[in-house]
Amino acid sequence: MNIFAIETSCDETSASVVLGGTKIKSVVISSQIKIHSKFFGVVPELASRAHMENINLVIHKALKDAGINFINFNKQIDAVAFTAGPGLSGALLVGAVAAKSIACIYKKPIISVNHLEGHIYSIFIEKKNITPPFLSLIISGGHTALIIVEDFGKYKILGNTRDDAVGEAFDKAAKMLGFSYPGGPIIDKKADKGNPEAIKFPRSYMKGSWDFSFSGIKTSLLNYLKRNPIKNKNHLNDICASFRQAVVETLCFKSFDAAKKFNLRKIVLGGGVSANLLIRRMFLRIGNENKIKIFIPSKIYCTDNAAMIGCAAYLKQKKCGLKYDQDNLKSSARLKLVNWC
Ligand code: KG4
Ligand code: ZN
Repeated sequence: MNIFAIETSCDETSASVVLGGTKIKSVVISSQIKIHSKFFGVVPELASRAHMENINLVIHKALKDAGINFINFNKQIDAVAFTAGPGLSGALLVGAVAAKSIACIYKKPIISVNHLEGHIYSIFIEKKNITPPFLSLIISGGHTALIIVEDFGKYKILGNTRDDAVGEAFDKAAKMLGFSYPGGPIIDKKADKGNPEAIKFPRSYMKGSWDFSFSGIKTSLLNYLKRNPIKNKNHLNDICASFRQAVVETLCFKSFDAAKKFNLRKIVLGGGVSANLLIRRMFLRIGNENKIKIFIPSKIYCTDNAAMIGCAAYLKQKKCGLKYDQDNLKSSARLKLVNWC
């Protein structure tokens, strides 16, 4: 089963050819960071326009890199997949229209994929043999969710964020510290040179709930900076390290607590923030101490990309067949994560 996949839910225009679910023949990711960075966040209208400008180039390059052209497409590709949501409405529509047009021209079945499922299953691109049940922690610029994957396409959502997504919190903190967008990777880099114990930022463990909240730590940073303007490089590194420590300890505490409570021996991470260096180190260390296996995708598959959409689409059709959801291919900015067939 060879799938041509398209992802345009936020600010990355991406296309990929995925063979047999996990063999990535090509993946092209065109980032819009330059467009949005001066606004310190993604501007939906600009994102849609940029997707419109880039989509054809990205599709052509992904096909060319995989050795596919308009003549052999029919033979090489079995189905077309696209991200149906959640995400920015206009951005989602660009990918949906492109995917549906290609599927229509070549008379191929089409598979809609929830963006969160892309992040959940992105690990399967590199590790084929993970079997459910496992705990999935999705941490990105738009989402923070703790989900039990009982089986492929069978979910129990434990918690979401009540305010900012964790990536959003990193980006807003970075703005306060004078960094450009997206600031998560900048904080991460500076944090490695600082003292994580220098400032005691609050940890919002929200006992009795699996939800997350990051607005408290954000306000705490703002108040700290009002009282203590940045003195020098070392001070800045210490602030970054202390902020990162508080956020990562919260994610770790809640994830391992949930894994133990529900007797899950595997935690799978996904989403842009799983590229964070401390997250990777802390999860692997605590996982090792508790005999819980930790799976984290390579950086390229943490961030938004169409390969993970192709991978999720493959698993979906494997379980439900190609006819499943052919009549239900609507894009939705607030698409819910629902069980498959
Ligand atoms: O998954 P993603 O590419 O897009 C969304 O679906 O949102 O995630 C982007 C987010 C941004 O907020 C970015 O600041 C954050 O991931 N991010 C990081 C790191 N790398 C990316 N946050 C903390 N540390 C990092 N190393
Ligand atoms: Zn994402």
